[in-house]
Amino acid sequence: MPKNIIIDTDPGIDDALAIMLAAASPEVRILGMTAVAGNTGLEHTAPNLAKIADLLGLDVPLGRGAIRPLWRRDTVPDANVHGADGLGGYALPDSQRTLEPAVPLLARLVEESDQPVTIVAIGPVTNIALFINEYPETARKVERIVIMGGGARDVLGNATPTAEFNIYYDPDAAAAMFDFGVPITMIGLDVTHKALVGSAHLAGLYASGGPIATMVEAITGHYGEAAYSGNDLDDAVAQHDSLAIAAAFLPDIVTTEHLFVDVENVGRLTSGMTVVDFAGRTGNAPNCDVALDVDTERFVTLLADRLTQLDATLKERA
Ligand code: BDR
Ligand code: CA
Repeated sequence: MPKNIIIDTDPGIDDALAIMLAAASPEVRILGMTAVAGNTGLEHTAPNLAKIADLLGLDVPLGRGAIRPLWRRDTVPDANVHGADGLGGYALPDSQRTLEPAVPLLARLVEESDQPVTIVAIGPVTNIALFINEYPETARKVERIVIMGGGARDVLGNATPTAEFNIYYDPDAAAAMFDFGVPITMIGLDVTHKALVGSAHLAGLYASGGPIATMVEAITGHYGEAAYSGNDLDDAVAQHDSLAIAAAFLPDIVTTEHLFVDVENVGRLTSGMTVVDFAGRTGNAPNCDVALDVDTERFVTLLADRLTQLDATLKERA
């Protein structure tokens, strides 16, 4: 039976691939998707979400969520990484869909689901913190929250030396989520930076030449140049958000340790840092499965194969 998931996202180049991966994976049923500000403003992430859903023929409810972090006014998107429009300038047709308010939509989807729900949060977790705050009883029914965010040991930060972007953007929301008590899987930079995907891996997809191939080639090109140029990794980039989607339905694609995690939200130098209690010094009970290693080969093959299949299906449908 497929796993019921809700995707909370800030599309976002790697978010777009992650949504494609979910749409292409029979192991999951997407109940709905909600947009949040992060990689760029909500005025782009919400329409991007609708346009991506249209492209994929995903007829699921969509939500328009938080326009800014809970309290913070000093964190802003880095327009270089995903472009001002969030998709590196890649133009998809406008969508006619109406987006519902995200927080009540999250509650409705969880309440109406016939099985436990996993939320896969691949942007800042502002919507999740608002949902927990406004609908705590419903939020307790969530089976698990899989996040792309944070760093534990090898790579702590990409937004600052110690903070990963999604957590950095709204650390107060992240702190509230870790404190809430629903089991969390943290797919952080330790693993996403080990699972790099380059054009050599996606050659089969690109040769397929359909709408997914065209879009993925264009947007990952922008992403690579903006975020990863000058490294020694050829053109390989971290598809952070796709790894979180994969881990939601293939948990053993990553190796995790069950640990206590809290988020620094007052630090002068370390705001947005996920502080992982490896040695049990706080005495707090573990609240998170922290991913520390990944089966890179399996992940890269999964992503490439699923996107290639999706491309073929959409070409046939056209
Ligand atoms: C995360 O931040 C964004 O740039 C990506 O979409 C991903 O969710 C990586 O730090
Ligand atoms: Ca994202």
